[in-house]
Amino acid sequence: MKLWKGRFSKEANSSADEFNASIGFDQRLYKQDITGSIAHARMLGRQGIISKEDSDLIVKTLGEILEDIEAGKVEFSIEAEDIHMNIETILTQRIGDVGKRLHTARSRNDQVAVDFRLYLKDDIAEIGECLDKLLHTLADLAEKNQDTVMPGYTHLQRAQPVTLAYHLLAYYQMFKRDKSRFSDCLDRMDLCPLGSGALAGTTYETDRQFLADELGFKGVTANAMDSVADRDFALEFLSACSITMMHLSRFCEELINWSSVEFGFIEIDDSFSTGSSIMPQKKNPDMAELIRGKTGRVYGDMTALFTITKGLPLAYNKDLQEDKPPVFDAGDTVKDSINIFTEMISTMDVRKENMEHAAKYGYMNATDAADYLVQKGIPFRDCHEIIGKIVLYCIGKGIAIEDLTMEEFKGFSDKFDEDIYDAIAIRNCIKAKKSEGSTSFESVKKQLEQVKKEL
Ligand code: ARG
Repeated sequence: MKLWKGRFSKEANSSADEFNASIGFDQRLYKQDITGSIAHARMLGRQGIISKEDSDLIVKTLGEILEDIEAGKVEFSIEAEDIHMNIETILTQRIGDVGKRLHTARSRNDQVAVDFRLYLKDDIAEIGECLDKLLHTLADLAEKNQDTVMPGYTHLQRAQPVTLAYHLLAYYQMFKRDKSRFSDCLDRMDLCPLGSGALAGTTYETDRQFLADELGFKGVTANAMDSVADRDFALEFLSACSITMMHLSRFCEELINWSSVEFGFIEIDDSFSTGSSIMPQKKNPDMAELIRGKTGRVYGDMTALFTITKGLPLAYNKDLQEDKPPVFDAGDTVKDSINIFTEMISTMDVRKENMEHAAKYGYMNATDAADYLVQKGIPFRDCHEIIGKIVLYCIGKGIAIEDLTMEEFKGFSDKFDEDIYDAIAIRNCIKAKKSEGSTSFESVKKQLEQVKKEL
């Protein structure tokens, strides 16, 4: 039976009923809905808007309904449209007229706004835990790879030697920012919209602060119209999800490259790889590829809600019912992706020798060779030119810079001395970095100490 049937003289078309219903997806909010209703019923009782006995009976019955839902004993109906009216219908079936008093001084518009915020607050806490595990895993891996030398890239061309620990700590910083983006978003959404009514507030002596306290919000929203029309909090959540996925996706792209025979830097564990149905030799990095692919899906979720909200006049419009599937999907996808990713990197095999081998070739010590000449008094631009010529010469001979004889070096500049060989040894290039936050072993050690303090 429809809770709003009074004004209607005709039954709804059954396809329209189905099209209109959100119970298929918003039943996920059953717990938040019941929690919100319990707080509301308590508030109504305390304020004398309904009797103390009615309030108690509603609270008790809602608790029973919650247990029954969790025990799988409740069947929701499309007729009752959404989670809010399904719960109210069940309540009224159980306690008759008393149940019908629950919806005094509220609307589904503030109800859905509070449910959705409560849901996201929990989801953000869960995502925070997933990110914590990832941050720990990155720190552990970095700790173990402080001495693992590898090429650092720009334009995916070998650029300067770095350590794997340094590379991993770069990602640590990104995921740390992601975590703080989620908590910023949580902080702004932590205001209770319940008690806003349909759009204009209510005529009852409600106590919104009590509702906020009961539901664990740090305060109440300031404007009822905004409270029911606002979905910024969900957009911020989706943005934070998208940025996190983007970071995972960049890392996955690297792992996919690194696990190829061409790179040979890592081997992803068998338990996180798949085979080919036709090519017996194949071992594919499907998990990493899927995370990269799911990033597109989460961007889609974000784009969906931005598009849904962009032309909406104030206050509530039914378009807003479409906010839930993308938000649920993004939250689920982010959690799954972070978890799989964390396990995948903690089980992968790092081919230190191959990384180090790659770091030795590609003239990555050319900048250090130029810096050597700067120390001998030549202006940097000229040093750049001299080393450029040396590299060209070496490419022609198929050798590394450090393979040149002293005589050959002298042919390019008489400032070269025996100490050039030490100055451009790969590990020394790393060691020589002095700026704060650099790849030097010393700096990475400091970065790791800071990270451990944070964790
Ligand atoms: N199922 C609705 C939603 O998710 C609840 C709010 C309905 N409000 C209304 N005025 N029809 O948006």
